[in-house]
Amino acid sequence: MSPTPLILDVDTGVDDALALLYAAASPEVELIGATTVMGNVTVAQGASRPLVRDHEPFPVVHGERGLGHAELPVPSRAPSSRTAAQFLVESARDRPGEVMLVATGPLTNVALALAEEPRLPDLLAGFALMGGSYAQGGNATPAAEANTWVDPDAAQAVFRGFAGRVETKLPRCVGLDVTQRVQLSREGLASMVAPAPGSSIGTFLGDAVPFYIEFYERTHDFGGACMHDPLALALAIDPSMATWTSTRVEVEADGTWTRGMTVTDLDGIRHSPWPVGWEPEDNALVALDVDAPAFMDVFVHRLRSLVERQT
Ligand code: RIB
Ligand code: CA
Repeated sequence: MSPTPLILDVDTGVDDALALLYAAASPEVELIGATTVMGNVTVAQGASRPLVRDHEPFPVVHGERGLGHAELPVPSRAPSSRTAAQFLVESARDRPGEVMLVATGPLTNVALALAEEPRLPDLLAGFALMGGSYAQGGNATPAAEANTWVDPDAAQAVFRGFAGRVETKLPRCVGLDVTQRVQLSREGLASMVAPAPGSSIGTFLGDAVPFYIEFYERTHDFGGACMHDPLALALAIDPSMATWTSTRVEVEADGTWTRGMTVTDLDGIRHSPWPVGWEPEDNALVALDVDAPAFMDVFVHRLRSLVERQT
């Protein structure tokens, strides 16, 4: 079976970078493009600010440049002259039904692409996002996960834009409910780089990931750093590693305490025989459980194989 064309929309981010490496190590997909969005850091090519509000990056989590202590070589290729939204729309129009989109940052680029092409949900082969928290609290605030908190207006536009599609065309939403259960430990990192620690990828992992692990060691007792974005990609490739529920999500954009909260109707209250004020159509497939050991095994194995190929 030929690999599925994949676009990753990232706000790199150490875990975004690990998702890019996971894509390179996964035979099921062919990475045809990466688009950038503000979030963990500030960017130039994709959306550099949210749709409506101001933006503050998260250097404490990922470092000033978003990659811990890693220094990357000067890129050998120039970025596309197209905006991220243009690239997303043109890729989907050029290859209808073929391209998988995975967003691992705020949904600003996806919202801009939807505004340009409302048929985007139908043109994509599939769409998965790392963002939100559907049956638990947040991480940027007690109510909101970071990606939907940074640009709640974009997140709301995306959930509205996908509403009413058949289940295979709904966004696969990979939120904190499952991403906080998959952590990369220092031992797991050591296993990844063991075949060639001095190689370019081995060196990058050794320079970038410890900064991210140290953040979690200071702030949580998870035993490692959450692999939010690699899990979103892995579940887009193999949804069987998670348990999914089709539902409706509305994103709070204005609440003082709840800005960015992904309000999720898991009990179907929107269908009640009184005026609830919610549209009835489902607009999301949310992951509520995950086989964490199965994911960590394939994740560490594939990145280790990528390092091995450098020897
Ligand atoms: O809340 C976690 C998400 O916010 C991840 O995608 C991380 O990279 C940051 O973007
Ligand atoms: Ca991210």
